[in-house]
Amino acid sequence: MCGIVGYLGSGDGLEVVVSGLEKLEYRGYDSAGVALIERGQLQVIRAVGKLAALKRELVQQRGTAASEAHCVIGHTRWATHGKPSENNAHPHTAGRVSLVHNGIIENYLALRKQLESAGDVFHSETDTEIAAHLLNHALAQAATPLAALALVCEQIRGSYSFLAIDSQRPDRLLVAKSATPLILGIGEGEMFVASDIPAILAHTRRIIVLEDGDIAEVRLDGVTILHHGQPVERPIETIAWDPVTAQKGGFKHYMLKEIHDQVQVLADAFRGRIELESPQVILPGITLSDSELKAVKRIVLVACGTAWHSCLLGKFYIEELTRIPCEVDYASEFRYRSPVLEKDTLVIAVSQSGETADTLAALEYAGKTCHTMAVCNVLGSSLVRKAKSVVFTQAGPEISVASTKAFTTQLVCLYLVATSFGMRRGTLAVEQVKSVLDNLTHLPSAVAQALHAEHEVELVAKKYFKARDFLFLGRGSCYPIALEGALKLKEISYIHAEGYPAGEMKHGPIALIDERMPIVAVVQRDPLLVEKMISNLKEVEARDGKLIIITDMEEHAEIFAGLKADIITVPSLGRLLAPIILTVPLQLLAYYVAVLNGTDVDLPRNLAKSVTVE
Ligand code: M6R
Repeated sequence: MCGIVGYLGSGDGLEVVVSGLEKLEYRGYDSAGVALIERGQLQVIRAVGKLAALKRELVQQRGTAASEAHCVIGHTRWATHGKPSENNAHPHTAGRVSLVHNGIIENYLALRKQLESAGDVFHSETDTEIAAHLLNHALAQAATPLAALALVCEQIRGSYSFLAIDSQRPDRLLVAKSATPLILGIGEGEMFVASDIPAILAHTRRIIVLEDGDIAEVRLDGVTILHHGQPVERPIETIAWDPVTAQKGGFKHYMLKEIHDQVQVLADAFRGRIELESPQVILPGITLSDSELKAVKRIVLVACGTAWHSCLLGKFYIEELTRIPCEVDYASEFRYRSPVLEKDTLVIAVSQSGETADTLAALEYAGKTCHTMAVCNVLGSSLVRKAKSVVFTQAGPEISVASTKAFTTQLVCLYLVATSFGMRRGTLAVEQVKSVLDNLTHLPSAVAQALHAEHEVELVAKKYFKARDFLFLGRGSCYPIALEGALKLKEISYIHAEGYPAGEMKHGPIALIDERMPIVAVVQRDPLLVEKMISNLKEVEARDGKLIIITDMEEHAEIFAGLKADIITVPSLGRLLAPIILTVPLQLLAYYVAVLNGTDVDLPRNLAKSVTVE
């Protein structure tokens, strides 16, 4: 995800900000930039690529002498709105304001139209630039910088953290925070602002964590914070983390951090893409016209590994919400079996990295005959460049080799695609669309609640981490989740695990069950499936298998009475979204079993984050 760093003081602010951005490099980015006020002049320097490119540009434009810039902001950008380019890189400037931003401004198109019709000229494709324009106007109108900032925040909707400088007031940094993290650092005669603690840890350990809805003016003589118009005091905390822990947001591993990140990134995956009142799904990267979409007779989903599991669930979403027949293929098998593709087939390739060789090859093969779409996490990746339509998952960089947040955001995107297609083809009535989309807005808080089961999951892991085999069972749309739970466990703990549709158990795997075998059953609230699932679990119990039930049925006491099992419950949010919530305990189970076995959780043996060979 994007990184923000800001400095105010008497030192070499440029050096502080660039080295702060370097501390955030691990998060991934595609361009970077700084804005500084030096001897009253505002200067903005940006470059595509790594910080080395920005540093070269700085030397070219400014030479190698230390800067006298005492008010500086900087940013590393991971493209969301608009491709990676110098124009799209932050900071964005309008008049006296230069500004960096993390997050997504949902209503930026409407605001941009208003500003353009009033004569403002835009230089980028980003949502961010409108905030610079709004603040430039507001500073001219409002009595104080904070009042100006409040005016801007009133107009924008979405998730954002801003850091801005005003060339007419180089003695302060202006800050606003809603939904994406931002901290202030208190130094000795210096002040800092950052999106993440590692960026400023070399200078201070005293920080203020801003809350959603805060705006702040940071000066050398102190900080003024307003929360929805009222002055507030936020406590100064002292950070004891070492630099490595700080990079992982205080978590022991990236995987655990990314599991917890899901609360935020699931919201990012639908934010700005749905309208609830007169319901709409806005996916501008889909270039299929209404008539082309109406002509689609079949959808084929292709992917590898975890992304393939997303496709299996995507098939449920697509068939239920659009009634278009849908198939799922392993990308590595697809082009070798001469698949039947026609002009009216739509092929959707799903990939976190967008660089998986098999997925790329499958998309290229399909592209010769039909429309292709990528659901991908990396803008500018090979898959995105080759697909005709694109839906970006917006999960932010995923560092752990075991995919977690990329998986669940892929599911949200496939859910959005299916809803959009259902609406456009007329298979969903307006009321149905409303309820499908309204449910989605509750997903982040349901996942946050599911994370409360972490300690219980850890206790289950302690019970079974020495087992050599696990069986994961699920029915219906929980079967793909059972497969994903098994894959997660095997790849990071090196324990053999298999996922099965529960109904298939008695056709073979039941022979494996004995008192040493833990069986993880994913049971969702579905009247059609629960009873059948319970019968399967009784068959397990009769063979002394050790049952672990992951369920969204809070009334489990009654339903599962008589079964000897560890039961982990998560909130219920309807049949379609339940599998996403039920995934969280499975990710945590794999994580804790791996930790207890002492494996290298983030870099498991023999695996690579992106598999660029066939
Ligand atoms: O980058 P992709 O989504 O295309 O990667 C596909 C698989 O290699 C990937 O999902 C792999 O299975 C993960 N390690 C699973 O955690």
